[in-house]
Amino acid sequence: MISALILAGGFGTRLRPLTCTRPKTLFPLGNKPLSEILVDRLVKSGVERVIYAVNYQAELIMQYFGNGDKWGIDIKYAKEKRPLGTGGPIKNAQHLLDDSPFFVLNGDVISNIDYRDMLNFHMQRNKAFGTIALHPVEDPSRYGAVELDHAHRILRFVEKPEPGEEPSNLINAGTYVLDPEVFEYIPENKPFSIERKVFPVFADQRKLYGYQFNDIWLDMGKPADYLQANKYVLDHFLEKTHSSSNKKAFISSSAEIEEPVHINSSIAIGDNVKIARDTHIGPYVCIGDDVTIGQGCRIENAIIFPDVQIDSFSSINNCIVGEAATLGRWVKIEGLTIIGDYCTITDNVTLTSDVTICPWKTVSESIIKPMTIM
Ligand code: GTP
Repeated sequence: MISALILAGGFGTRLRPLTCTRPKTLFPLGNKPLSEILVDRLVKSGVERVIYAVNYQAELIMQYFGNGDKWGIDIKYAKEKRPLGTGGPIKNAQHLLDDSPFFVLNGDVISNIDYRDMLNFHMQRNKAFGTIALHPVEDPSRYGAVELDHAHRILRFVEKPEPGEEPSNLINAGTYVLDPEVFEYIPENKPFSIERKVFPVFADQRKLYGYQFNDIWLDMGKPADYLQANKYVLDHFLEKTHSSSNKKAFISSSAEIEEPVHINSSIAIGDNVKIARDTHIGPYVCIGDDVTIGQGCRIENAIIFPDVQIDSFSSINNCIVGEAATLGRWVKIEGLTIIGDYCTITDNVTLTSDVTICPWKTVSESIIKPMTIM
């Protein structure tokens, strides 16, 4: 049986305050949870069992995916008593895996890696203990960078190399195929980094291989990455809907849209959304279920969580608006501003450049410099 272990227990601190109320892996992208996009792709590649390594907000993930029936696969959970990092969760899931090679995936990566091809690549190299998906980036210093030989063997694996000391610009893309041998190298019940403690050892033993791919890859760490991931998903990862246009507009049939409205390409509009006339939506907008948008609004490059209310003539550009937030009339928000869940932004308020509002706050004065309102 082909299994995949998804690491989904992180706190997602860089995406606070949105991660205060839900794990990053359930963040909507084109109105679909990030993790569901991953599971759909794994199922299409022949994966039959998914194991979620969970810790923070585990119950929400377990509630969403259940036993996997909806996806026609078996889904199990390996729950940690405390965060175990990137290696500990693998050992913690050993009892749920069999003796064949298995995938390990960082649950916050959006990519179009061909998993089937990657598994074949690994199987063809019978000395391999592990194969790491590699992606080229401009600045490898935030990641694990590798030196590869002509046979795709990883000769060196350097986690977060100092600038100037990177072995190449090929980085660990957070997706691996590992042989069960790996369990011998990871202690039980301890926080443990596979990147620092296992990959360099496998590389020294010449048992680690690199599977290079060049297309879509994004590690969804920060708010700007989240908006970019939403773009990728709207453009590349959603199935074509009943819509006959080629605009990539995924609009629920229960949405009520009052004409005239200008709807651009690459947008997703959820169930029971109400949009009043003269509003401009898109490109790159995801609007969750039960959102209400008043007349004459303009929304571009934004993620709007469910149950949000936006009054007339407001504009949102390059922002994320948390669940059940309320925005008054003539509100203007832009520049990577994040509005937490249940916040209220009153009429005529402008929020520009990196303003973060924590959940339940009311903001009634404009803020035009980077700031967090706690
Ligand atoms: P930040 O706190 O913002 O760094 O985000 P993060 O918690 O997601 O950390 P990071 O981006 O380094 O994590 C990469 C992947 O590993 C994500 O899918 C995390 O959910 C997952 N992860 C990180 N730490 C743990 C852990 O202790 N246990 C498990 N099961 N998964 C983890």
